[in-house]
Amino acid sequence: MRPHPATHAQNPLPPSPTESTLNAMPLRQDAQDAHVDQEALWDAETARRYDTPGTGMFAPEVLDPTVDRLAELADGGRALEFAVGTGRVAVPLARRGVPVTGIELSQPMIDQLRAKADEATIPVVIGDMATATAPGPFHLVYLVFNTISNLLTQPEQVECFRNAARHLAPGGRFVIELEVPALRKLPPGQHAVVFTSDPGYLGVDTYDPLHQHLTSHHFRYTEDGKAHLARSPHRYIWPAELDLMAQLAGFELECRHADWEGGEFTAESGSHVSVYRLPGGA
Ligand SMILES: C[S@@+](CC[C@H](N)C(=O)[O-])C[C@H]1O[C@@H](n2cnc3c(N)ncnc32)[C@H](O)[C@@H]1O
Repeated sequence: MRPHPATHAQNPLPPSPTESTLNAMPLRQDAQDAHVDQEALWDAETARRYDTPGTGMFAPEVLDPTVDRLAELADGGRALEFAVGTGRVAVPLARRGVPVTGIELSQPMIDQLRAKADEATIPVVIGDMATATAPGPFHLVYLVFNTISNLLTQPEQVECFRNAARHLAPGGRFVIELEVPALRKLPPGQHAVVFTSDPGYLGVDTYDPLHQHLTSHHFRYTEDGKAHLARSPHRYIWPAELDLMAQLAGFELECRHADWEGGEFTAESGSHVSVYRLPGGA
């Protein structure tokens, strides 16, 4: 998977600055099928290690453009973050004056968020972003850092779009930040792509193109020569499929850029920020 200067992974150890854009956590043995228990994967230890203030996904050059763009898209209204996590984005967005609510599956991740923002500042509904309901309506729903790929089946991903639509007022926007699958790097017969090879760190994605799944493997070498492995399962989505999911939920694509700063999305782009909009509104 292609390293991207604007984003990189963070868990369960502090990231390499060129690390994969897909998020990572320890993967249990049974986690490679579509019924992986995400709630169990995002456990207390992963949550405790998630925040890396000032670096990685928390670096100002990553976070500031994200928050700037989301504040602009909220357009003075309320925002809902699906899979809010520890509030990496929600906390600075709320500080910017945008009222933010979250939906999140993992209580340990919410506990970390609560160390930074109380329930009155950022209310959070515990539940699945494909089905849970937060009191709305909202002007903006957003789902960043490739997290739609944590839903491991197409029906769940479609349901996630429908749930975003249910939460939005007419004219409301759903913003998704997602990698472009690095399938062009896979010659026939090969199923793995090294996305980063640094001293002390090796990142490999293994692809299952039949089921449209990938597993990110993050090997980190310790000074005694041992390796620590964390894996994360994903269902990857091509941008065109994402647009079709949006259409099924009643959205139109308003714009797609290569990054939060409005860079042009091209055939070479490694990820995208896509803005979908419901009809109606002012
Ligand atoms: C990589 S973190 C992203 C957190 C935050 N959005 C950020 O950008 O830092 C992924 C988060 O998705 C949550 N998650 C995974 N599947 C979920 C689901 N189906 N519904 C709600 N949250 C989910 C995990 O618990 C975790 O907090």
